[in-house]
Order: sequence, then structure tokens, then C-alpha cells
Amino acid sequence: MTANPAALTIREPDDWHLHLRDDAMLALAADITARQFARAIVMPNLLPPVTTVAAAEAYRDRILAALPQGRRFTPLMTAYLTDEIDPDEIETGFEKDVFTACKLYPAGATTNSASGVTDVARIYRVLERMEKIGMPLLVHGEVVSPDIDIFDREAVFLETVLTPVLRDFPALKVVLEHITTADSVQFVQDAGPTLAATITAHHLRIDRNALFEGGLRPHAYCLPVAKRRRHRTALRQAAISGNPKFFLGTDSAPHLKHDKESACGCAGIFSAPVALESYTLTFDEEGALDRLEAFASEFGPRFYGLPLNEGTITLHRESQTVPEIVTQGDLAVVPFHAGETLGWRAAERG
Ligand code: NCD
Ligand code: ZN
Ligand code: ZN
Repeated sequence: MTANPAALTIREPDDWHLHLRDDAMLALAADITARQFARAIVMPNLLPPVTTVAAAEAYRDRILAALPQGRRFTPLMTAYLTDEIDPDEIETGFEKDVFTACKLYPAGATTNSASGVTDVARIYRVLERMEKIGMPLLVHGEVVSPDIDIFDREAVFLETVLTPVLRDFPALKVVLEHITTADSVQFVQDAGPTLAATITAHHLRIDRNALFEGGLRPHAYCLPVAKRRRHRTALRQAAISGNPKFFLGTDSAPHLKHDKESACGCAGIFSAPVALESYTLTFDEEGALDRLEAFASEFGPRFYGLPLNEGTITLHRESQTVPEIVTQGDLAVVPFHAGETLGWRAAERG
């Protein structure tokens, strides 16, 4: 590859961590993601959460119905683990190809996690079953104790929850979602091949200063919250390293503009409109455009045991100004990079 290619064509990517929401927001979010990604792991944190095979099938149908005619896109559904979840329901969903994975939200850790797991010991029977049938566990890796500093919650989770789970279920495939710390990078590198991690576009670009730049910046707020610059540096190094344990997961998480710009603003960054451009910008800055394809389009499916996509998508070195706001009917959402001019533009998938 030349140093500054005018365009870059890669195998079609997938998004291994995505929030599509429901109803009117789904109508906005589904098409935007499907312009860039062929498949996505769809998070189950709806209200009420997706805990049954029937609910996941119905949600999958709503996602497909929300796409414009002819748009190829495969939603990969997940089950939301609760203290009461039934291992048989999980296994049935996996065998029927409805559930691709299960999601562990520690209760109270993030958006719509109130029905999440209060103590991982309570889901050991499900984890045992998942290990047996080869079903991946996806984790929001933060402890929730108010005594633990919010910037330390991910690092403490590694020690107090993830380490025992990996020890007790050595064959269970686990994805540590949206990692934000050098500690997680190191932990994933040191663990066996059953552990991988997703990295968002925004954690590769912002550090915690972004939350306070000239005033309080609700659109830079997500969970896990962005950390110090040195952590961002470690994430960038992991993403471009060529280590197949690190792959793309945007965690694009739309919230209405007025729900973010509030006295108690919601956590989540809506990166879907320019997700691929944002990753490309980062890889370009790091002189690693030649590693983008593996990170975006190969390591994820290999970890999940799924085929690679056949099609391609082209990124052009062209400037585009990101809109201040994305709307659909009455809905208004502020995208990541709002108002910025980016040096890359992704062509729409066919
Ligand atoms: C996500 C959301 O809004 O659903 N928010 C976020 O800040 N990442 C939930 C999550 O992924 O933790
Ligand atoms: Zn999360
Ligand atoms: Zn998420």
C-alpha cells in the first residue's frame, strides 16, 4: 500500500457491538448502520430487555422491516442475562440460530441494565451451559459499587469478576466489550484464546478531557467512561497491532438530543453515521491503514466462528462535514464527530 492512498477498498465489515433500539429510533438507526456494516451483534438492552427466543425473533423481524428494500444486512441477536434466566431457553435460542451470544450487564452498570445480573454466581448454571454448547458470553465489564471510583470500575471488574469466570469456565468464549483501559488491553493479551475484546471508534479518539472541554460535554459521555490519554494510546496500539483478539465494535448507542443534554444525561455515543470513517481516520493517523481490514472485517467473524463477508466497501480520501444533528420525523440525535470535517468518506454498501 502506498503511504497516502486516495482510496481504500476492504472486505465488508461487521459491527460486533451495536444498539439499534426500537420503534422510531430503530427506523433511524438500522439503515444508518446497514450502509456500512453487513452484520451486527445487536444489543438486547431494550425496555423490557430481550430475554426470550420469541422476543429476539420478533425484534429481529422489526429490524429487518425497518431496513429499506434490498438492503443486505444480518442482525445477530443476543440474549440479556438476568438472575432468573433459564439455561434451556438460551440453548433453544442458540440451536435455532436466533441467539448468537448472551450479554452480561451487571445490574445498574449502564443504560437499561436494571434487570441485569446482581451477582455472577447466580448465572453459573447458564455459563456452564454456554460453555458446553460453544455460545459466546459478551460482557459489559464494569463493577457497580458506588464506593469504587468510576474511572476504576473496569479495572476492578477484571480482577473481581472476569478472572474467576475465566478460571471456572476455561472453554467459554468471552468478549470483553468496549474496552477503555490499558489494564484491559494487557489482560486480554495475557489471557488464553477464549478471550477477545471489542474497541469502539470513540474510545480510540477521545480521552476524559473531552468530557470537560470548555464546559460539560454530554455528547462525549458514554459508559465505560473515557479514561486518561495513556489508556487511549494503549487502545490505539491494540487496535492496530494485528492481534486477532481485538476487533471492531462501535457501541453506537443513540439517545435523543434532549435526553443527552439534560441534568442527568444518558450514557451513549451515536457513532453509526461515520463509524467506519472514524476508525479509518485513526488507523491512518497511526500509519496502519493496512491493518484496518483485519480489525474491521476478519478478526470478529473468526472469533465468532462465522464466515467472512464476500463483498467490499470503499473508503475515499475526501472531506465530508458531519451533520450537527441526524433527524427522522420528530427525533433528533447528535452524532459522534458532529460538525467536524473528516478526511475520509465511506461509499455506501450496495
Ligand atoms: C449503551 C446504551 O446506551 O445502551 N450506552 C453506553 O454508554 N455505552 C449501553 C452500554 O453499552 O453500556
Ligand atoms: Zn456496555
Ligand atoms: Zn453497548
